[in-house]
Amino acid sequence: MDQAELHRSGAAAGLPEMEQLWMPFTANRQFKAAPRLLVGAQGMYYRAHDGRQILDGTAGLWCVNAGHGRAEISAAIARQAQEMDYAPPFQMGHPLQFEAANLLAAIAPGDLKTVFFTNSGSESVDSALKIALAYHRARGDGTRTLFIGRERGYHGVGFGGISVGGMVANRKVFRGSLLPNVDHLPHTYSAQHQAFSRGQPEWGAHLADELERLVALHDASNIAAVIVEPVAGSTGVLVPPKGYLQRLRSICDKYGILLIFDEVITGYGRLGAPFAAQYFNVTPDILTTAKAVNNAAVPMGAVFVRNGIYDTVVHGAPEGTVEFFHGYTYSGHPLAMAAAVATQHIYQRDKLLTRVADEGIATYWENALHDLSDARHVQDLRNIGLIGGIELQPRPGAPGKRAYEAFVGCYARGVLVRYTGDTIALSPPLIIERGQIDQIMSTVRDVLRTID
Ligand SMILES: Cc1ncc(COP(=O)(O)O)c(C=O)c1O
Repeated sequence: MDQAELHRSGAAAGLPEMEQLWMPFTANRQFKAAPRLLVGAQGMYYRAHDGRQILDGTAGLWCVNAGHGRAEISAAIARQAQEMDYAPPFQMGHPLQFEAANLLAAIAPGDLKTVFFTNSGSESVDSALKIALAYHRARGDGTRTLFIGRERGYHGVGFGGISVGGMVANRKVFRGSLLPNVDHLPHTYSAQHQAFSRGQPEWGAHLADELERLVALHDASNIAAVIVEPVAGSTGVLVPPKGYLQRLRSICDKYGILLIFDEVITGYGRLGAPFAAQYFNVTPDILTTAKAVNNAAVPMGAVFVRNGIYDTVVHGAPEGTVEFFHGYTYSGHPLAMAAAVATQHIYQRDKLLTRVADEGIATYWENALHDLSDARHVQDLRNIGLIGGIELQPRPGAPGKRAYEAFVGCYARGVLVRYTGDTIALSPPLIIERGQIDQIMSTVRDVLRTID
């Protein structure tokens, strides 16, 4: 079925009027001319509005790690909605938020055992940046206000996140209003040195030394934190070179700079360990998460903070005063917490946080992905854990078009993939079976054969 046929079957199915909704990160006019609507989800599959089963190659948006329609999670949300719909989070508490924090602390790396709740990845990032500033100030080091992000980084859409982020499309319209005190490391990708690497590329650890250059330029006494995604997802799956994150960690230590890992997509088992921090054996000072924290059933984010950071900020303020002037009406929302507790129990019971490593899924995935090296249009393949990137040669004069057509073609053939630029990005639920991996890869191969 092509797009036009899909659209005709949608019209027949009685699609809703669409003009009134401004859709996020969407080509609104193109979408509304040929919509793709999802109406149900169970396990590894969505159900489309025309009744077709769609294999989920993206875990929704890197977030439904335990698969769709988990009865324990929806039951926990329903119970909580009956019991208590909402509780104010400022100067008040409710037991579930502490229970959720305890469960999360138990899987956190190192001493990042203090948890701050938000409602999204963007809010987690902005909260992390504020925590870094508050920490340095509480230590009497208030000149440390500069943040260092990285080219091709994605840290959500708040002004903090787009300022430290490095995606030009997300920044250019807002250029004049970004945070003033930000610099960027170079990104870690080189087609020349890294193309078709399996897992972490050998080349590129030295790019972390650029941090030394920025320290020499700005002086360490002015730098609050470095923020990076351990694996950059939104700019096309960039896997860190071997030794790169270790080197960043040691330069940050040398100069008293905080290291923030944005694990909004790598958190909760995506690489075969609870967090990328454990996978790479590099412990940051602050770690941002969202998405899979509660299987995306209710909007939620969680920021993990080293105990010493919490102690410094909290004990640095006079007793009986609010120590940190930051928080959200929905921080620790009871429905999100109920979903988080139920999700974390599923992750533990089903050993999902390590499944892709323990059951050989990541290796199977890597082999299946790299079998596409002779597929049409493919110019690079990148993978780590249960993440895959298929970079296509851009069509001359029409960057991104080929990947968009591949996305539409896969959807028409019953597989949901994602594309960013000219890269197809894959990140299925962690419950995926080998046969479903084969189906994703063979669909991509077939579709690439059909597009120019
Ligand atoms: C690394 C990273 N940080 C932050 C975000 C923003 O999360 P949200 O869309 O929940 O605000 C994302 C979203 O994909 C992300 O990948």
